[in-house]
Amino acid sequence: MEMAPIPSETYKLGFIGAGKMAESIARGVVRSGVLPPSRIRTSHSSPVRRDAFESFGITVLPRNDDVVQDSDVVIFSVKPQVVKDVVLRLKPLLSEKKLLVSIAAGVKLKDMEEWAGQSRFIRIMPNTPSAVGEAASVMSLGGSATEEDGDLIAKLFGSVGKLWRADEKLFDAITGLSGSGPAFIYLAIEALADGGVAAGLPRALALGLASQTVLGAATMVTKTGEHPGKLKDDVASPAGTTIAGIHELEKGGFRGTLMNAVIAAAKRSRELSQS
Ligand SMILES: NC(=O)c1ccc[n+]([C@@H]2O[C@H](COP(=O)([O-])OP(=O)(O)OC[C@H]3O[C@@H](n4cnc5c(N)ncnc54)[C@H](OP(=O)(O)O)[C@@H]3O)[C@@H](O)[C@H]2O)c1
Repeated sequence: MEMAPIPSETYKLGFIGAGKMAESIARGVVRSGVLPPSRIRTSHSSPVRRDAFESFGITVLPRNDDVVQDSDVVIFSVKPQVVKDVVLRLKPLLSEKKLLVSIAAGVKLKDMEEWAGQSRFIRIMPNTPSAVGEAASVMSLGGSATEEDGDLIAKLFGSVGKLWRADEKLFDAITGLSGSGPAFIYLAIEALADGGVAAGLPRALALGLASQTVLGAATMVTKTGEHPGKLKDDVASPAGTTIAGIHELEKGGFRGTLMNAVIAAAKRSRELSQS
């Protein structure tokens, strides 16, 4: 069946689940100017959550049904444990005129499509740095989602970071890398700062230097397009300080440990999505 295009200049966006992710995505979308707040709506019973959205101009409606009825694109941003129940309740309103999006971790497109009774669906795996506009998100298109639907969602999620497209079968591996990855790097930043303190730096200076160094190194990789191995070689001079540190990292199995962390998180994601 031919899908009626979502009108890109006038469509309305609704969030079912007015939580942390919905708020960071909505804020990013508004900040970037992709959509004005007047075209975004959500619903929540708690005054605190309502205020959080209303403070930047989002319309908060009384019920989930109102959000779906008043939206062309609906993002399901409730927790994975409740998403089935929420989608099933809204099913009568979820026609293929609407583009549906899920960010629920570990919930497969085929299940979402079955519960919604339609397959104009896009699944996205964002990560927490979406709160500061630096998400690493991946999307996969369901059966009836069109290329235009994909472009529209890429523009929305592009406003809170970078977005890639990948086959859904890679989502557990993606969860292991970009979903869990921020926590791995927080650990690395904390450990670098501890090292600085052990070497004599005050804590605040050590933490500032550690986090800015990680940001700087990541930006070098993304902005120069150079292979990280080459960038590492460039800063490791013969018999210098950096190669002495790298030797310690290699003795401690640094690379293998990071690889194992991603593999373990991906495995856990697979287990959770099957349970
Ligand atoms: N946070 C992340 O890093 C991250 C990364 C990738 C994907 N995700 C996915 O994003 C989704 C949202 O995560 P989050 O961190 O934003 O969680 P969250 O802050 O707990 O947001 C979920 C919101 O949904 C509300 N809710 C619960 N039941 C509802 C219902 N029946 N109808 C409407 N709203 C309802 C909750 O309200 P109450 O608090 O009152 O229950 C809460 O405000 C999850 O599926 C998660 O897997 C999150």
